[in-house]
Amino acid sequence: MDSGAIERPTSKRQPSYMFSDVLIPMSTALDLAEGREAGHAQRVAHISLAIARARDLEAAEKLACVYGALMHDVGVIVSGAGLSEYTRGDERLVFAPMPLLTPEEAATGTDSPEEVASRIVDHVVHGSRVVQELGLPAAAVQGVATHHERWDGAGYPHNLRGEEIPLVGRIIGLADQVDALASETTPLLARRNFATWLSRLSGRDADSDLIDSLRDLGRSDDFWLGLYNEDLSSDLSRMCRNLKEPRNVKMDGFVEAFADLMDSRLPYTAGVSRKVARHVERLARAVGLDENHQRLLRAAAFLHDVGQLGVAERIMAKPGILSVEELEVLRLHPVHSHDVIAGITGLEEVAEWVIAHHERVDGRGYPDGKVGDEIPLEARILAIVDSWVAITSDRPHRARVSQDEARRRLQSAAGTQLDPHLVDVFLRDVITNEPVSKSA
Ligand SMILES: [Fe+2]
Ligand SMILES: [Fe+2]
Ligand SMILES: [Fe+2]
Repeated sequence: MDSGAIERPTSKRQPSYMFSDVLIPMSTALDLAEGREAGHAQRVAHISLAIARARDLEAAEKLACVYGALMHDVGVIVSGAGLSEYTRGDERLVFAPMPLLTPEEAATGTDSPEEVASRIVDHVVHGSRVVQELGLPAAAVQGVATHHERWDGAGYPHNLRGEEIPLVGRIIGLADQVDALASETTPLLARRNFATWLSRLSGRDADSDLIDSLRDLGRSDDFWLGLYNEDLSSDLSRMCRNLKEPRNVKMDGFVEAFADLMDSRLPYTAGVSRKVARHVERLARAVGLDENHQRLLRAAAFLHDVGQLGVAERIMAKPGILSVEELEVLRLHPVHSHDVIAGITGLEEVAEWVIAHHERVDGRGYPDGKVGDEIPLEARILAIVDSWVAITSDRPHRARVSQDEARRRLQSAAGTQLDPHLVDVFLRDVITNEPVSKSA
């Protein structure tokens, strides 16, 4: 890989994006957070949009269905924090069967069913707050807030009933249930059982008018081919573009808000992404990268660990030495980060930096064991800052070290783990000028 990719287009203006540009790829990070295989959120979006079209909703409502569906379970990231205390296995799996079970049923068998059930209910509350902070339109926020309400009033968190439930929430809730049923079986059986599922949901869990539309849709090959399309994400983007989606998302703000959300997952990571981003930007400037390049590196700093959503908290926060399997899972996180980021137009190159942020210059890093300059410059920058911020921050099982000790540790990692030249620049130009209180 080319490491000295310093010359690049230098547009200083931040490009504007459509929500679908960022939400479609980011939704795969949410599938990871629920311990699902990638694609659940996109399939819920596909089904929701199909229903919205069949009901002839306006373009803005159709888009709200897509956005809300893509982000419907974003609250799981917050609700899942600390949940491993109550679950024996992978805490994320508590969330996967949500649309088909009551919170109490899903919490059965955990060490504290009451606590776990209330966390499940809370994912809706957190989720609607998060999508509001991400700037999604009000109808999409409402959709997220009500995706577990049920037609007969037995849903949560507000036990809304019938038409009290906003239409977008009714649509997303139905789509979520249908995809949960479909993902338990093969495409062939899903199609065969479809009508039976729908009659079971009708009037109890879901609006019977919506069910009728969905029943019609289920008769068409297009619906099923779309749902099981390998490239569902391109399909969804195309459909969103056709709805004259506005370009009103600024990437920087979106990425920062998403990083804050990920930081809130573990108590000790609050604010860590911003710290990393600040140092990364300064190191990038110190080595002479231009403004646009610095901006992309900031995005990399904010998103480099997005793949950690796919790693159970039990592994992330484990005090002792990890088992071989746990290590394997942990070591996949840069690959997951890459896959999420690579889907965002304009950040393809950032994905190549991010996948290499745990490589070591001596070749003993992961995932590819790249050596020295084979590791992109940007990844070597990320690695230094990541190490610095880790050792100067308190973690559950060890306190932060002093700034002098942190300098010594970074220097001793120079040439093995870290790029020695960049370590020099970092300690000389970034840390020396850093007020002591801020460096931790
Ligand atoms: Fe949910
Ligand atoms: Fe879901
Ligand atoms: Fe990482």
